[in-house]
Parts: sequence; C-alpha cells; structure tokens
Amino acid sequence: MSGLSTIPLRRMLPPSIFSAVNSFWACGSCALRKMADANLGYTGAGVAPQREMARPAVRNFQRARTTLDRGLRELRGGNAPSARHEGKDRRLGFEIIDIRRFETREFAALLEAESRAWNDTLRWDFAPSVRVINSCLRDKRLSGYALAGEEGIRGYCFFFYDGEKGIIGDLYVHPELAGQGHERELLKHSLETLLGTPGLRRIEAQLPHYQREELEACFLNRRFQTFLRRFMSLPLRGPQRAPHAEGGAQTSADARWVREGIELIPWQKRFNDDAAEMLYQSYRQHVDALINDQYASVMGATRLIENICHNQGCGDFLTHVSRMAVHRPTQKLAGILTLTKVQPSTAHIPQVGVGPSFQGLGIGTALMEAAFRDLAEDGFEQVTLTVTDSNAGAVRLYQRLGFDTFKTFGAFIYVSEQGTGD
Ligand SMILES: CC(C)(COP(=O)(O)OP(=O)(O)OC[C@H]1O[C@@H](n2cnc3c(N)ncnc32)[C@H](O)[C@@H]1OP(=O)(O)O)[C@@H](O)C(=O)NCCC(=O)NCCS
Repeated sequence: MSGLSTIPLRRMLPPSIFSAVNSFWACGSCALRKMADANLGYTGAGVAPQREMARPAVRNFQRARTTLDRGLRELRGGNAPSARHEGKDRRLGFEIIDIRRFETREFAALLEAESRAWNDTLRWDFAPSVRVINSCLRDKRLSGYALAGEEGIRGYCFFFYDGEKGIIGDLYVHPELAGQGHERELLKHSLETLLGTPGLRRIEAQLPHYQREELEACFLNRRFQTFLRRFMSLPLRGPQRAPHAEGGAQTSADARWVREGIELIPWQKRFNDDAAEMLYQSYRQHVDALINDQYASVMGATRLIENICHNQGCGDFLTHVSRMAVHRPTQKLAGILTLTKVQPSTAHIPQVGVGPSFQGLGIGTALMEAAFRDLAEDGFEQVTLTVTDSNAGAVRLYQRLGFDTFKTFGAFIYVSEQGTGD
C-alpha cells in the first residue's frame, strides 16, 4: 500500500478532495484522496495561485490559447483542414492549455470516458471522484493542463500542492488518441510547472491508467525515482478461490498468532491513534514510505487512517469487515486491516499492516482470511489491492492467498536536493 499525503487547511476544502486523489494510493492507491484536505491554492513558498506557473509555461498557455481559439474558429467555420482525418495533421490540431481556462461542463465527455476506464479496467467506481474533480474545476482550484482539440477536451493532467509537496492527481487521455504521445506532452507541461514552483520540496505521482514504461522517460529525464506497482485482485467465489484462503487460520487454535495471545476484533475507532502509530512503525525503512511520505511520520499516518475511515476517498469504509489484531496480554495493537467498497461487488484493501514485532506470525494472513469470508457472505465477488512490486514479501503473501496481478503502473517521486538535506 502507499497512500499520498497532505497537511492543514482541511477546513478550506470539502473533505472529499484530498480523499479522491489519495485514496487509490493509500494502499498505494489514489492521489484523489489527497485532494480532500490538500490546500489546492497553496503554491509553495508563498506564491499566489495565479502566479504559480513558471513564466515560460504562462507564455506557452497564452500563446496556445490564442492558437487554439484561431484553430477552433477555422474548424468550426467549415475550413477544417484534411487534418481531421489524418493522424499527423489531426495531432497538430491539438493544443495544451491551462485547465482553468475551461468551464466544468467542457470536461464532461472526458470524465465519462475516464469513468468507464476506472470501472472496466481498474474495477473502481469513479463517480465520487468525478464529483470532487468537478467541484474543484468549477472553483478553479486545480492546476494543470487540458488537451483541447476540435472535439473539445480530450485529455488532462492536473496537480495540486500540499505544503511544500506537489501531487499529480491524475493524467488521462481519451483512448481514441492512445499512442500519439499526448500523455507525455501533458505530463511534460505539468512537470515543468511543478519543478518551476519556488520552494517545492517533493513531487509524488501515481498514474494507474498507464504502464510505468509508457511514462518513465518523462520522469527519469527530470531526476525522479520510479517504482513499479501492481494492482491485484482475488475472486471471493468460484473455482479460482484460493483453497488456502478457504481454511481459516483464524480458527486454528495452534496458529502461532493465537498461541502468542493475539485476538482479532472488529474495527474500533477509539484505536485510530494506535493504528497510526503502528502503521508508522511498520513502514519504517519501507519502500512505500519513499513513495508516500505520509508513512514517514505519525502525523502522516494519522491522516492516512482518517482519510480511509472518514473521508471516503478510497471508497466507502466497511467498518464491520475491517479488523484489528490486539495482543491481549499487553493490550497493544498488533495489526490492522481496512476494507472499503469501491464497486457494488468489489471491495478494496487500502491498508494492511502488522507491527514489526508481530510480523511473520500469521496475523496478516488471518486478518485477510477472516475478512474475505465476511465479504463473500455480504455478496462481494472480488477484493482488490495495490502493492509495490519490490515489497516482495507482501507480493508473495498476496499470491499465496490467491491474488493475481491484473494491471501494473508507475509511481514517480522527486525529492529536491534541499529536501534531502544535501
Ligand atoms: C505484509 C504484512 C501485512 C504481512 O503481515 P504478517 O502478519 O507479517 O504476515 P503473515 O505472518 O501472515 O505471513 C507471512 C508472510 O508475510 C510476508 N511478510 C512477513 N514479514 C514481512 C515484512 N516485514 N514485510 C513484508 N512482507 C512480510 C512474507 O511473504 C511472509 O511469507 P513468507 O513466510 O513466505 O516469507 C506485514 O508484514 C507488514 O505490515 N509489513 C509492512 C507493511 C506492508 O508491507 N504492508 C503491505 C503493503 S501492500
């Protein structure tokens, strides 16, 4: 798992904004969750929002808008060049323009196409995120670029600021235009703007619509680190259901975790602070803490837990299925498993973590097996999660439980030299 992060000013924003972006990435999932409490207007070192773009980018978009307006006038006036039907010319008909120059309704068709992609490919209902994005677009609270052409807006890339961190919330280009390089162009503009923002310490991006390799060059050229992430799923019914997961170490009296005095209990909000402290401990020196710096502090982990449990950025929190593992003799929290509903028949695991001194006892396995039985009883047909490929132990565990990878994508991180303390 590996969510994104944020800080104060939550009061200024509807709770779902940060959630919508970051949710997907809590367990690695979505940057949209972060939008729920990110300060979308803050641009780094006290720079006013309207001045946030690097100067060349400002000039570019002004020039681009003029060119586009002229192009659209020509096209709509019936002088459409043969461009329309020929790949090369057609590509020339597109412009990349500041996202705030458009009305919300101009994004409707694109968001519809993206919702289908989330639904069909990522098994995720994107409707709540669309509401958040629309609200931010309406209030001009998103920074970023739109790919505009004769048929309207065909792609976009947006980002926002969380303190001294920039987060790319989304990148999507209509599938009809796949393979023409528009994604990389949008990304290039966004990265130039972000990297040109004074005082920015860190940039995070997780872009689930694309394979890591498709976008990697854009990031490597700009000194980002890249990570491969997997989207995995497990059917909860039918022949593919892993036999291992049917058994139930939870009931096995001789399981190691049982002998150690661990008991599994339903999620209890009063333990949320303990859960944050435990998460922070279990992700110390962990690759996911490089990808998402919320794991690198108790405050960040607290926000992760809050976002999952309260902000619904990662789907609807399933309180009755989510669990905690408690070490009875000391009453210490040993592990947590959070589950959300992301489609009517799909549950998602935004977070699973076991405290360092309790790892390897079978607690993670038991938490998940118990939850999977409950989910199946509740009519869920599958459960999904995201995991960083180099978190080999966790990948092995999920595969043993019967999970398969159905999609891979990239996570990209930039840390300024100032940020590393160099
Ligand atoms: C991954 C994790 C939840 C597994 O819980 P657990 O109770 O240790 O797991 P179990 O004892 O049920 O199963 C053991 C398996 O977990 C994995 N595992 C054990 N310790 C691990 C660790 N420190 N990090 C990652 N995976 C680990 C191994 O695959 C192990 O199987 P193996 O014996 O074949 O190597 C737990 O180790 C953890 O919290 N790790 C750090 C945070 C993390 O990586 N979370 C998952 C992010 S997607």
